[in-house]
Amino acid sequence: MEGLNSVIDNEPGFFNEMCRVLGCRYPILQAGMGGVARADLVAAVSDAGGFGFLGMVREAPQFIEQQIHAVRTKTVGPFGVNLIPAATAPKLFDEELAVCLENRVDAMCFFWDVSQAAIEKAKTAGAVVLYQVGNVKDAIAAAEAGSDIIIAQGAEAGGHVHGQTSSLVLIQEIVKSVRCPVVASGGYSTGASLVAALALGAAGIHCGTAFLATRESFANAYHKDRIVRATHDDTIHTDLYSVNWPVGAPVRVLQNSETRELGVNRFGQLPGSAGNEIVGDEDGRPIRRFSTDSPLRNTRGDLERMALFAGQVAGLIENVPAARELISEIIADAGAVLSRLPRNLSVSAPSS
Ligand SMILES: Cc1cc2nc3c(=O)[nH]c(=O)nc-3n(C[C@H](O)[C@H](O)[C@H](O)COP(=O)(O)O)c2cc1C
Repeated sequence: MEGLNSVIDNEPGFFNEMCRVLGCRYPILQAGMGGVARADLVAAVSDAGGFGFLGMVREAPQFIEQQIHAVRTKTVGPFGVNLIPAATAPKLFDEELAVCLENRVDAMCFFWDVSQAAIEKAKTAGAVVLYQVGNVKDAIAAAEAGSDIIIAQGAEAGGHVHGQTSSLVLIQEIVKSVRCPVVASGGYSTGASLVAALALGAAGIHCGTAFLATRESFANAYHKDRIVRATHDDTIHTDLYSVNWPVGAPVRVLQNSETRELGVNRFGQLPGSAGNEIVGDEDGRPIRRFSTDSPLRNTRGDLERMALFAGQVAGLIENVPAARELISEIIADAGAVLSRLPRNLSVSAPSS
């Protein structure tokens, strides 16, 4: 693991094979968060040596194209786009994927149920394919369908959570089950967690909540502030926020008045006609109660009642740095952690 320090000291270089495949210097991937991860954040991450994904779930193809161009005006660094086949109408999904591939993005990251067709199209067009999964079966299916990198999402994660297993166990299971690099997701924001992920056999980390709470993210300042103030047990795994998504798609959010009042698990059954109530708007587009739209810079209304996506790692986040500062801090901290680790675990015999 000395490589981490040598990467810091000897530029240019790639920390490992996964970084070489993606063309990024550090094994730090920024999750493609819908609404939140737009051109400013992705460009800042990729420019700082990480790898950023535009979060473009259900966005119009014209907007995706505009965002891809916007990243390219800000950095020459590589980046990708995140789409979710299972949460997007098939026609729109095909158009979204087509615009990404026509614009030759470096990588595509998909999430939720494994779509063999999406993987094949992206591979045929020459993109690196990453698939985020929450269990071993999906990891094997995504790898067999041609994914280059598997992202193992532990149940600590913020946003939509596809599995039930903690990252600690899931990564090791998936590393044993597939031959391609595995990236750890859910709970990562520090150098110590990067070192831990590498120790478990992962090739790097994929962070959502930590990058949401950076200056460049498009999240509303209220959402960032709530994450900074959160402790580790302020998040909840619930399917209350389910408008726009298939039934049975739980999320991890910060507790709010809605989750406290209505409980956590309704298996897609919203209370009465609650999903028709309007709680705010995004540049005039109405936001329905229990929608999966989290509050963005351009959202107004009752922000406290909206989906305040956050992982358990929110408890470790204490400020809102620039994305470059966050990446530098993770790498420097990882180096310090490595230098403190014991070289071996043998115990000398007690002297008689
Ligand atoms: C605000 C937010 C939005 C998210 N949106 C998406 C998304 O659109 N697509 C996706 O693949 N994952 C999405 N996720 C999940 C992330 O990909 C990732 O699994 C998660 O953030 C990792 O856990 P962490 O938040 O502890 O870093 C989102 C997460 C957050 C916090």
